[in-house]
Amino acid sequence: MKKKIFITGVAGFLGSHLAEALIELGHHVVGCDNLIGGYLDNVPAEVEFYQYDCNFLNSMKKITKDVDIVYHCAAAAYEGLSVFSPYYINKNVQQNTASVLSAAISNNVKRFVFTSSMARYGENQIPFTEDMTPKPQDPYGIGKYASEQLIKNLCEIHGMEYVIAVPHNIIGPRQKYDDPYRNVASIMINLMLQGKQPIIYGNGEQKRCFSFIQDCLQCLIKLGFQDDVAGETINIGPDEEFVTINELAYTIGRLLDFKIKPRYFKDRPQEVFLANCSANKARKLLGYKTEYSLEKGLKEMIDWIKKRGVKPFKYHIDLEIVNELTPKTWKNRLF
Ligand SMILES: NC(=O)c1ccc[n+]([C@@H]2O[C@H](COP(=O)([O-])OP(=O)(O)OC[C@H]3O[C@@H](n4cnc5c(N)ncnc54)[C@H](O)[C@@H]3O)[C@@H](O)[C@H]2O)c1
Repeated sequence: MKKKIFITGVAGFLGSHLAEALIELGHHVVGCDNLIGGYLDNVPAEVEFYQYDCNFLNSMKKITKDVDIVYHCAAAAYEGLSVFSPYYINKNVQQNTASVLSAAISNNVKRFVFTSSMARYGENQIPFTEDMTPKPQDPYGIGKYASEQLIKNLCEIHGMEYVIAVPHNIIGPRQKYDDPYRNVASIMINLMLQGKQPIIYGNGEQKRCFSFIQDCLQCLIKLGFQDDVAGETINIGPDEEFVTINELAYTIGRLLDFKIKPRYFKDRPQEVFLANCSANKARKLLGYKTEYSLEKGLKEMIDWIKKRGVKPFKYHIDLEIVNELTPKTWKNRLF
């Protein structure tokens, strides 16, 4: 049955893909974005779009009228930066969640799907599983975990269904690539296409799994519709191809036929060395499986960035705390 679905952060990477897929399924999608991230041209034409900030409670109350499902994707999703701009991150992670949540509850929305983050797990042992006690260790992870608690608490009191998605390192076209603070693979592609060497923090041996957007979309959609996932927290992303940041850089270099000699900088404070989530629960409950290898996903990203055109990096967020721990790459604008 056709539903009215509200997506926050619809000009962003996940939000815009989700909107496109839900429209294809015949749903009516309303979306908002304040454009502090994302790109306006990411928003599919069929979306009823509002350039609103989620922190405007009255606007959220108007926009969530008669909505069946909310996908709350809007966030300043900056883990490393959150240590240096905590006020900005908190406002656009935790505070904006309180606003959208309050509006959704007051309008009797049926289900609230929240995109949390792997940052909630912090220093836990890998692979991270959903039953672990979160140990976030930076303001972004803390804000995501606090938002989850807020959602559970208010949804249980007021009787709204909720699902917590825990996406991790999802990559693909439409991801912001001119942002010096986030999206390592997109940044590396944008740099190399400009003939510039990639920047790596630490020795580059920190490991991550990268998931391609098309492999994650069906899971995210099911979180809004499937009865048996209400109240669940589910990791969204693969546990295959655990690669180092060095390997990522060399793979991109090979695909672009670019001879790389990475520029290494001091590691960023609080960055977790090994981060990898188990996908077992998503496989079991959502039928999750991967079709994209890292290389295949990177090729699609390269094609998209080439088509859209390389861009200079924009330092669009102020550093609130500048001291000896602040990465030189940001202080001295080295991208
Ligand atoms: N992409 C990933 O790998 C990943 C991993 C873990 C978690 N997540 C989470 O998934 C969500 C989407 O991530 P993404 O990669 O698409 O990020 P994104 O930056 O591409 O999209 C987020 C969008 O939210 C908007 N936004 C931010 N604050 C807002 C506010 N106060 N009001 C209105 N709009 C606002 C931004 O302008 C941006 O367009 C985020 O909540 C993020 O924390 C993503």
